[in-house]
Formats: sequence, structure tokens, C-alpha cells
Amino acid sequence: MHLYLSQPEFTKSLKQELGEFTEIAEGLLLSPVAKPDICFALDVWPNVIEAEISSIKDAAAKLRLSGNKLWYQHKLNFVRRGSLILDNFKKLPDFTVNFPPKEALPSLGGFLMLDQNKILYSPKRWKAIPDGIYEFNEDKKMPPSRAYLKLWEALSLWGEFPKAGDICMDVGSCPGGWTYVLQSLGAKVISVDKAPLAPHIAKLPRIEFLQQSAFALDPKEFKKIDWLVSDIICYPERLLNLIENWLANGNVKRMICTVKLQGETDWPVVKKLAAIPKARVLHLCQNKNELTFFYPAPEHLWVNYD
Ligand SMILES: C[S@@+](CC[C@H](N)C(=O)[O-])C[C@H]1O[C@@H](n2cnc3c(N)ncnc32)[C@H](O)[C@@H]1O
Repeated sequence: MHLYLSQPEFTKSLKQELGEFTEIAEGLLLSPVAKPDICFALDVWPNVIEAEISSIKDAAAKLRLSGNKLWYQHKLNFVRRGSLILDNFKKLPDFTVNFPPKEALPSLGGFLMLDQNKILYSPKRWKAIPDGIYEFNEDKKMPPSRAYLKLWEALSLWGEFPKAGDICMDVGSCPGGWTYVLQSLGAKVISVDKAPLAPHIAKLPRIEFLQQSAFALDPKEFKKIDWLVSDIICYPERLLNLIENWLANGNVKRMICTVKLQGETDWPVVKKLAAIPKARVLHLCQNKNELTFFYPAPEHLWVNYD
């Protein structure tokens, strides 16, 4: 059995993906289905173990024996009792994330209390961050909106970052949060939107702003793009066309694009996006009714059930 964690508002989509599941609580599904390309899970605990515990010490011994020395509790039931179990392990570091991160997060096992005498646990989880929820040390000064947090999360998950000398293209960039993120990492940014950038972003160095529709750009006119990012508000089908158009030209190395869903999840388009070789489509904790498209996704973005 595998445990799937999702944002409660998106559990319906996660259920559609899994088909077979037992709902433990809102946003928490147990399923026999192993789906490496799951979209709507924020985290997965593969091969979870359910165990009766006779005492706090017994629970701690079971966790220790399973092969991880660092544990966190997903807070569900009997949280105080769970904290007493955690007292038997090394204290966890603060998981507030800096951007870009200074060091890799340690591997953490996860457990939760099913009832007073029963725990569910897994020494290996998919995402490094507890529950797959990124809490960032936010930049309250420069970004003109909170949209920048989506790109912070996508890049942190990817584990690779634009750097000085890279050419980035940001389409659907206004008011400029993503453009600012790319620029602040030292890259040059071609920023494209029909609406203008916030003035304090527009005047930053290394930003070239093109005020026009992103769909009118001809990929052939650009030599090399290290990162193409898109947060355009458009129908998923239109984004798919844009992605295919740029990929066909062969000059884009990497892509991060927000797929804006309209009400119900548009599964046919999501499946087409996910079927692009090396692409991965994920629901991030900073995503609302959206998904994030990664290309070419690093291997760790697929869930490993081994
Ligand atoms: C969610 S906002 C982007 C926010 C941005 N990522 C940020 O961090 O500030 C979506 C943007 O897509 C732009 N947009 C919609 N259609 C577009 C098109 N055809 N070409 C370029 N931009 C477009 C809108 O003008 C809007 O500014």
C-alpha cells in the first residue's frame, strides 16, 4: 500500500488518477496503485507499514528498525503522543526553505498516528520536504505578486537553477515576479507579455521586455533558450501547442510552464502534456487550480516505489 498526500481541494483529482483507494482523512489516500507519474500528490510514502504499538518506546524502536534515523510526524490524530515518539529521535532542522537553497534537505521518514496504538509509517518518502509543502523565507520586497513562489517551488524541486550567462524567456510575465526570480539568479531574461512589467522590475539589468502576444513569437528567431518559463493564462490546449511549437524548433533546453485548469481537470490535455518524452506534470503546493509542466524533468520527479 502507498500513502498519497494532496491538498484537500485537489483530492478529487487525485482520486480520479488512482481509481482504487481508501480515504484515511481529507487529502490522505491509501492505495495499492503505484503510479510513478502521479500528478496531484504533493508527496507519496511508498510501501507504508501499518503497525500496532504497545508503547512510545515500542513505536520508536519500530521506526528505528525500519532504516531511517530522522522522522517527522504528519499531524493527524494523537499528535501529542506522536510528539513523544519523536522525542526519541534527533531534533529536526527548521524546514523553512531559503531560495535558492543553501544545502540539500536530509532524507526524512514519515509517520502518522492512525489511533492511539497504531501507526502508519514509511522510512522513504518521495519529496524531501515534509508533506511536500514548501514554506519559504519569502521575499517581501521585490516581487510584485506572490506568483514568484510557484517558480521558487518548481526550481527548488528541480534542484537546478538558471545562472549567470543563461538566456531565459518568460512568457506571460506581467507584473514580473518570475522575470525577477530569473534575473535575480544572474540570468538574462527575455520577458514577454501584452501588459507592461511593474516599473521597478522593468528597470532591473539583464531584462529585455517584449510587449506582445507570446503566441506570435517565432521560435526560429531565437538562437538558444536555456530556460523557457510560462505562466500565461490560457486554455491548456493552447499551452500544449505553444510547448510543442518550441520543442519542435529544438532550441529550448528546459521548460517550466503553469497549466491553468478551467474548473474540472482537463485530463486529455494533461495526458498529452505528460506523454511528451521526458516531461512531467505535477501539482505544486503553490499551485491553485493549476499544474506545473517540467521538461526535461529530472528523474527524482517521478515517484520511486522500489
Ligand atoms: C498569472 S499572470 C503572470 C504572473 C507572472 N508570472 C508574475 O510572476 O508576475 C498571467 C499573465 O499572462 C498574460 N497573458 C495572457 N495572454 C497572453 C499572451 N497571449 N501573450 C503574453 N502574455 C499573455 C497576462 O497578461 C498576465 O500578465
